[in-house]
Amino acid sequence: MIEKTTAPAPAVSPDQAAIEQALTDQVVASFANTPDPRLRQLMQALTRHLHAFVREVRLSEDEWNKVIEFLTAAGHITDDRRQEFVLLSDVLGASMQTIAVNNAAYKDATEATVFGPFFVQDAPEIPIGGDIAGNAHGQPCWVEGTVTDTDGNTVPGARIEVWEADDEGFYDVQYTDGRVAGRAHLFADDQGKYAFWALTPTPYPIPHDGPVGKLLAATGRSPMRASHLHFVVTAPGLRTLVTHIFVYGDPQIEIGDSVFGVKDSLIKDFHIQKAGIPTPDGRLIEGDWAHTRFDIVLAPAKV
Ligand code: BEZ
Ligand code: FE
Repeated sequence: MIEKTTAPAPAVSPDQAAIEQALTDQVVASFANTPDPRLRQLMQALTRHLHAFVREVRLSEDEWNKVIEFLTAAGHITDDRRQEFVLLSDVLGASMQTIAVNNAAYKDATEATVFGPFFVQDAPEIPIGGDIAGNAHGQPCWVEGTVTDTDGNTVPGARIEVWEADDEGFYDVQYTDGRVAGRAHLFADDQGKYAFWALTPTPYPIPHDGPVGKLLAATGRSPMRASHLHFVVTAPGLRTLVTHIFVYGDPQIEIGDSVFGVKDSLIKDFHIQKAGIPTPDGRLIEGDWAHTRFDIVLAPAKV
C-alpha cells in the first residue's frame, strides 16, 4: 500500500512563522515584474514550493550545503554522453509527472512513458522487417504491429524510432568505441503496419556510478529498470508518442522500476520460440527467438 502524502505545518512560534512567510512573500514579489507571464508564474510557484520545503523539513545549513555539493557533482559528471540531471529527474518521478501532465489520457491512445537519456537523433533507417540490433548481443525478437489513430484509421508512413540496451545492459552510446547498435528508425507501410527484428529486452541498471547512484544507495533504492524497448512514434497531425513496451513476467516489474516508467497497458507478451521454429520472415536463427505485438494508437495533436 502506498501512503498518501501531506505536508505537516512547521512547528514554530507564530513570530518565527511570520518572519519566514515574509521572506517567501518578498521573494515571490521580486518576480512580479517578469515580463513573460509564464516565467513569472513558474518562478513564483517555484519560490513558494521551495520555501515550503525548507520550512517543512527545517533544513539545516549543512544539509543545504550538501544539496549544493550534490548538484555541483551532477554538473561535473554531465557531458554530451552522460546526463545526470535527466537521471535525477527520472528517479524523483519528475519526468513521469511531467509526462502525466502533458499526455492526458485520450480514448484508447497508447500511454506515454519516460524518454531516458539514450535516444540519439539520426539513427539508421531500416526497411520493414529489418534488424535494429546491429552487432548488439541478445536474443532476437520479432516486433510487429499497426499504427492507428483514436478513430481507428491507419496511419501510413508513421515514423517509428526504436532503441534498446544489449543483453549486457548497455546502450551503444555507453561504449566508447562509437558503435551504433540496438537502434534504428523505420516507417509504417501504407496500411500502417510495421515489423522489425530487435533483441528481447533484459533488465539493466540506470547509470549509478555518479551522484544519483549514491542517492539511490543512501535511500535503499535499486537502480534497476524493468526490461523494455523504447519507441518514439510521430505522424503529422497526431500527438508524438514517447513510450516503451515492457516484458510480461519480468520480475523487475513487481520489484519496481527505478524511474517509475511501467504502465500496465505497456506490458506485452513476449512469446519465446524454440530454435528451429520458422520465423515470420523465414529467417534462419540458430538459437531461441521471441516475438511480440505492439499496436500503437496515436492521439490527435490537439485534444
Ligand atoms: C532508459 O530507459 O534508457 C533510461 C531511463 C531513465 C534513466 C536512465 C535510462
Ligand atoms: Fe532504456
